[in-house]
Amino acid sequence: MLLEIAITGKSYPAPNGGSAPVLGKIAFGIRPGEIAAIVGPSGCGKSTLMRLAAGLDQDFDGRIALDPAARTGIAFQEPRLLPWRSAGQNLRIAAPAATDAELDDLCARFDIGDHLNHFPAALSLGLARRFSLARAFAVKPDLLMLDEPFASLDSAMRRRCCDAVADLVDARRLAGLIISHDIEAAVRLADVVYVFSARPACIIAQQEIAMPRRSRTDSAIREIMAQIEALG
Ligand SMILES: Nc1ncnc2c1ncn2[C@@H]1O[C@H](COP(=O)(O)OP(=O)(O)OP(=O)(O)O)[C@@H](O)[C@H]1O
Ligand SMILES: [Mg+2]
Repeated sequence: MLLEIAITGKSYPAPNGGSAPVLGKIAFGIRPGEIAAIVGPSGCGKSTLMRLAAGLDQDFDGRIALDPAARTGIAFQEPRLLPWRSAGQNLRIAAPAATDAELDDLCARFDIGDHLNHFPAALSLGLARRFSLARAFAVKPDLLMLDEPFASLDSAMRRRCCDAVADLVDARRLAGLIISHDIEAAVRLADVVYVFSARPACIIAQQEIAMPRRSRTDSAIREIMAQIEALG
C-alpha cells in the first residue's frame, strides 16, 4: 500500500470548550496505481482527512502510514500559490527538477500558458486552481492528493481539466486521493469511490469502478453516479 488509513477518531476544539468530533472510524488503503475518490456532504471532514493523510495534522486517533519513498503532489481546496511570485514562478519553484518542456506540457493541458506572468492576486479563482493542479503534477508525484480540484471551473473547463487529470494519471500510472463534492468528477477519475456520511464522517458506502477511466462513456458515468447516489 502507498497509503494506509486507519483512523479511529479526529476532533477539533469546540468554540464553547470541549471538543467536536469530525471524523469517526475510517479505514481504507491506496495501492500503487489506484485512484480513490471521496465524496460526501459539505463540512463532513473530507479536507480534514486529506490534511491528516498528507501528514499536515498529527492530532488524531489511529494510524496513517504513507510510504516514505512516495512523493506526493498536493492541490489544496484553496489554491495556495505564493502571492509574491508570478504564477509561472510558482510552478518553477515547486518543481526545480522539471524541464521547461514538461512545464509547458502541463500548462497546455490545463490551459494556463497565457497567464504565467500574472501574480496570483490577478488570477481568477479558477485559474489559480488550474495552476495549483499543474503544480501538483509538476513535482512528478507517485501519489496525488487533490481537494476539490475542479471547483470554480465552468463545465467545459471542468471537463477539460478532468480529462487532463485522467490522461496524466493513466500515462504516469499514478495513485491518488481525490476529494470532490462533484460525484461526476469522482466517477470519471476513480477506481474506487468512498461515500462519507455527515460529520463525524465514516465510510457509508463504496463503489469499485472496473471500467478503464478513458473508456467511461457519458452514459456509463451517469449509470455509476446513479448507483452511488442510491448507495449514499
Ligand atoms: N482548524 C479547525 N478548527 C476547528 N474546526 C475545524 C477546523 N477545520 C475544520 N473544522 C470543522 O471541521 C468540519 C469539517 O471540515 P472540513 O473542511 O474537513 O470539511 P469538508 O468535508 O472538506 O467540507 P467542504 O465540502 O465544505 O470542503 C467543519 O465543521 C469545519 O468547520
Ligand atoms: Mg473541504
